[in-house]
Amino acid sequence: MSANRPAAVVVLAAGEGTRMKSATPKVLHAICGRSLVGHVVAASRELSPEHLVVVVGHAREQVTAHLAEIDAEVRTAVQHEQNGTGHAVRMGLEELSGSGVALDGTVIVVCGDTPLLTGATLERLASAHATDGNAVTVLTAEVPDSTGYGRIVRDAASGAVTAIVEHKDATDAQRAIREINSGVFAFDAQLLTDALGKVRTDNSQGEEYLTDVLGILREAGHRVGAAVAGDHREILGINNRVQLAEARRLLNQRLLERAMLSGVTVVDPGTTWIDATVTFEPDALVHPGTQLLGATHLAAHSEVGPNSRLTDTTVGEGAVVSFTVADRAEVGAGAGVGPYAYLRPGSRLGAKSKAGTYVEMKNASLGEGSKVPHLSYVGDATIGDHTNIGAASVFVNYDGVNKHHTTIGSHCRTGADNMLVAPVTIGDGAYTAAGSVITKDVPPGSLAVARGQQRNIEGWVARKRPGSAAARAAENAHQDHQSDQ
Ligand code: UD1
Ligand code: CA
Repeated sequence: MSANRPAAVVVLAAGEGTRMKSATPKVLHAICGRSLVGHVVAASRELSPEHLVVVVGHAREQVTAHLAEIDAEVRTAVQHEQNGTGHAVRMGLEELSGSGVALDGTVIVVCGDTPLLTGATLERLASAHATDGNAVTVLTAEVPDSTGYGRIVRDAASGAVTAIVEHKDATDAQRAIREINSGVFAFDAQLLTDALGKVRTDNSQGEEYLTDVLGILREAGHRVGAAVAGDHREILGINNRVQLAEARRLLNQRLLERAMLSGVTVVDPGTTWIDATVTFEPDALVHPGTQLLGATHLAAHSEVGPNSRLTDTTVGEGAVVSFTVADRAEVGAGAGVGPYAYLRPGSRLGAKSKAGTYVEMKNASLGEGSKVPHLSYVGDATIGDHTNIGAASVFVNYDGVNKHHTTIGSHCRTGADNMLVAPVTIGDGAYTAAGSVITKDVPPGSLAVARGQQRNIEGWVARKRPGSAAARAAENAHQDHQSDQ
């Protein structure tokens, strides 16, 4: 729990984000496994605010539905028209007061499009705000190019923040300032509410600027302060897809560094992409070209990649997964997957089991030490322990209308090129012959043979393909055979 627990965090997410040129609202674009607003909500949660309000406007049904999915405790406030950041915060506060919440303490304001902002930076802002006894504290940053941002104007003598001037309203001298407003603030709740009532719209955009609250509070004799962000890249706001890619790269790098410092080997951070929700144990190893997504977990000494994509998949201790696509699969300790395997939802591989080359599995469990080494489809099946499935076998699970289940016991040996037509059960210790189409249950310990008898029609080539290369080869073979005798 945060020492400076705020009364509320207000997240501004009503804007349209036209520069994304997208049918998807800007704050719902995702990087590293979370929407932009999802990252901001997650960082805000680290402060344990009493209330968390997201101001929605553009595509609000979609944004509200998404928020309900990711965080059931988030409240939303509607801003019907985007009349500026000050107006948006006012809508957020009115939503709370309208439902009987009397805010007392600190209100933190953040933008919904700054996914790199960390909880730690918000903590630093909240603590500077409390320690300095400010009415408002703005999070600022020195940026290489301040074009488009609000500039932080400081008193030449004392260095105190006097105002924030928007780019469009700034003089040439002010535009030269490189310290900018990140759009993140800590406010005294009561003073903020009072000041928002006094914000005017006589600016170049005709909007209620949240930034004007600083000047209003300062003129009323209150303390205005600033906290400078340690890393200006943290406050990167996303306006277009170039910035989206840049933010993804930076966040991915941050996540990989955290993993590496916790004992994970990442062979090539440049081609490894992970979600914020992925977890690792020490001595996991990730080869190049690998994406680890969602709730994927790599246990100690496991190895994934190269060129693999794992979604919501757990990889057990010491397991090796290469050139594989897996979705909602469980790979047991010491198991081997791939190269070139496709594990679909519900694939469960027991300890030391194997789904080998060109193997697809779906809703199927493989017991301890069992193997599907080559070229097979295993769908809707339960396979016991220490069983071997022959190469090029298909679990025929679909009759065109319904899916059916196949059960195979322990210590079985099914032949190569089997069609196992479900529903069907093969008992413990049973064998099946190569090329069989198994449609009936096989009792434990039996050999099932289910294929046409071979018949050889002698002299067929000489009669039906006379003069062909095959006929000559056969003729030669016959002569050699006779002279051998
Ligand atoms: C704002 C700041 C600027 C700062 C910059 C940092 C103001 C007036 N300007 O400028 O000083 O440097 O952010 O990125 O505050 N929003 C609403 N409703 C509105 C308007 C905006 O919810 O009516 C939301 C947007 O969705 C966005 C955020 O507020 O998440 C910032 O709005 P935006 O229009 O991007 O402000 P900037 O012009 O970038
Ligand atoms: Ca912006």
